[in-house]
Amino acid sequence: MPSEDAPSLRTRRLRIIESGESASEPPNAFALAVRAGLRSDPKTLPCRYFYDEQGSRLFEQICDLPEYYLTRTEDSILLDHAHTMVAGWIDAPVMVELGSGSSSKTRRLILAALQTYRSLQYVPIDVSKTILEESAEALVEEFPRLQVTGFAANYRDALAGVVERFDRPKLFVFLGSSLGNYEPDQAVDLLSLIARSMDPSDRLLLGTDLDKDPKILEAAYDDAQGVTARFNLNLLERINRELGGNFAVERFEHQARYRNDLHRVEMHLVSREDQEVVIPGAGLTVKFSEGESIHSENSHKYNPAILDELGNRSGFIEEDAWTDADHRFRVQRWRSRSGQSSHSRTEV
Ligand code: AVJ
Repeated sequence: MPSEDAPSLRTRRLRIIESGESASEPPNAFALAVRAGLRSDPKTLPCRYFYDEQGSRLFEQICDLPEYYLTRTEDSILLDHAHTMVAGWIDAPVMVELGSGSSSKTRRLILAALQTYRSLQYVPIDVSKTILEESAEALVEEFPRLQVTGFAANYRDALAGVVERFDRPKLFVFLGSSLGNYEPDQAVDLLSLIARSMDPSDRLLLGTDLDKDPKILEAAYDDAQGVTARFNLNLLERINRELGGNFAVERFEHQARYRNDLHRVEMHLVSREDQEVVIPGAGLTVKFSEGESIHSENSHKYNPAILDELGNRSGFIEEDAWTDADHRFRVQRWRSRSGQSSHSRTEV
């Protein structure tokens, strides 16, 4: 094939769709969230704001830390079972990934699908159009039999668009224990939304971190090199950068606490002293007393019983599940309960 043909072939194998007005948040969303979170008692900040350029870079570093076993454990499970995970259809299912990011987690699944089927339609969903474009271009470059249709949108709009556009069996993919950032009720809402988008022949691959020794969990969120501390403190630096805040970050301490009762690791930014911070972009002056914390993230941990209950509440039935030898992480393949009969689908 002449090399000048390559770019046009690539373009035809790559589309990015921006769906819904909510594809990107309104420009003042961060200011409003900071204002609401720091005026509430106890103080909070939403963890989705970790991921600006700086925070995304730090998160990539976290994934390589010795203490942060999640990424590499999930990857080892995918390495061992990717072919089974993508098997079961005559023709390749459309692979729809929620929160694809750089799509690094999914490479193994794409590879296994391309070894099983003649071609593959991969549909990554992410709020960041830039990240979608970058990873989609790399993927079509790497895999000649791959088509990528990225959705730059929130999950709700993107799922509606995916169902409308692709009238074929689908394999939904939600990896990296991303579900862990959702409170149980919100997790059920999101999973129910996915379940309602599913037909009888569709499946969901869900990757979740498991409950374990609190020492291992807390180390994963408070590493020796201090990368996770920088990741957490970056939230305050982001407020300084984008909202003109005057946080002195050294006056705050990163903490990771495992809450046994709630099955989650909490991340906090704890004030080392009594202090006052001004954030002009949020129209805010905030007082902190010594020891007062900003609760910045929940990372929920699961066990098979909790997952079974989440699945039940969301309309799923487990078909298969895989863990590593140390039972640190679990990937499950679920089918939608409503998907069993075409009659009950509209009722859910
Ligand atoms: C991307 C939500 C799965 O909770 O483990 C990593 C984010 N926070 N270290 C997680 C995170 C601190 C991560 N998730």
